[in-house]
Amino acid sequence: MPNAIIFGATSGIGKTLASYFIKENYRVAITGRRLSLLETIKEESPSQYSIYENDVQNIEQTKTVFNQIITNFKTIDLIIHCSGVGYENPNLEWDKAYDTIKTNIIGAMHIYNLGFHLFKKQKFGHLVAISSIASLRGNRGAPAYFASKAFQVNYLESLYLKTKEVKGGNVYITDIRPGFVDTKMALGEGIFWMASLEKASQQIYRAIKNKKRRVYITKRWNLIAWVLKIVPSWLIKKVM
Ligand SMILES: NC(=O)c1ccc[n+]([C@@H]2O[C@H](COP(=O)([O-])OP(=O)(O)OC[C@H]3O[C@@H](n4cnc5c(N)ncnc54)[C@H](OP(=O)(O)O)[C@@H]3O)[C@@H](O)[C@H]2O)c1
Repeated sequence: MPNAIIFGATSGIGKTLASYFIKENYRVAITGRRLSLLETIKEESPSQYSIYENDVQNIEQTKTVFNQIITNFKTIDLIIHCSGVGYENPNLEWDKAYDTIKTNIIGAMHIYNLGFHLFKKQKFGHLVAISSIASLRGNRGAPAYFASKAFQVNYLESLYLKTKEVKGGNVYITDIRPGFVDTKMALGEGIFWMASLEKASQQIYRAIKNKKRRVYITKRWNLIAWVLKIVPSWLIKKVM
């Protein structure tokens, strides 16, 4: 029976992906701060789900939870990092920005590192992270969120490069970059091209199964990504 850990599976993309891997007969350890939600999810398949209350900002607690899961599962095939926060923050309020950095940068990097070290030791494993199309450029409405996603993408590329250090070629890094997905995380007003949670999660699931290096979700966001990579800042400033 393959084993997976999904960080940030109390709601949204993480919760939906967890249900897919349960159907595929994985044992899945799920985490998040909202214990009552974890308990409700576990009821759907008590023998396959294990639940761990965890705040990724708490580095020591996260390390302890990670080690407990390894002790229980022995080996881990798949780690999916979905934990994240995002705020509209046009006035650059410190608390919102700091919370974003502690969760999306420090918390995320810590989990990426725990996963990478484990997979290097095991000589196999697949680390998947949900970054964002927001990684590609700056944004005046949510600067810390967009910057945190750029950090994630660059760090994940570094880990991909570091897989060269692992003999056998069986460690994989997948960077999932969604556009808008219909969860409470979708930021802003007048959102366009909003994908349903089900459609986005299905595409993410396929990308994981195919061990893609990076993928835009849904597929039509490839076009936006292409535009974002070439458009000059002055034009973004003018129209957005
Ligand atoms: N929805 C979109 O439009 C969209 C677009 C691009 C990227 N993304 C990315 O997709 C990822 C998943 O988001 P989602 O859309 O599925 O939204 P969501 O339903 O709000 O899920 C966020 C998850 O992160 C967990 N989380 C947040 N802070 C945490 C903390 N300090 N410690 C532990 N867990 C924490 C939440 O669990 P608890 O609250 O229970 O702790 C929840 O399970 C995020 O990284 C987000 O940036 C989303």
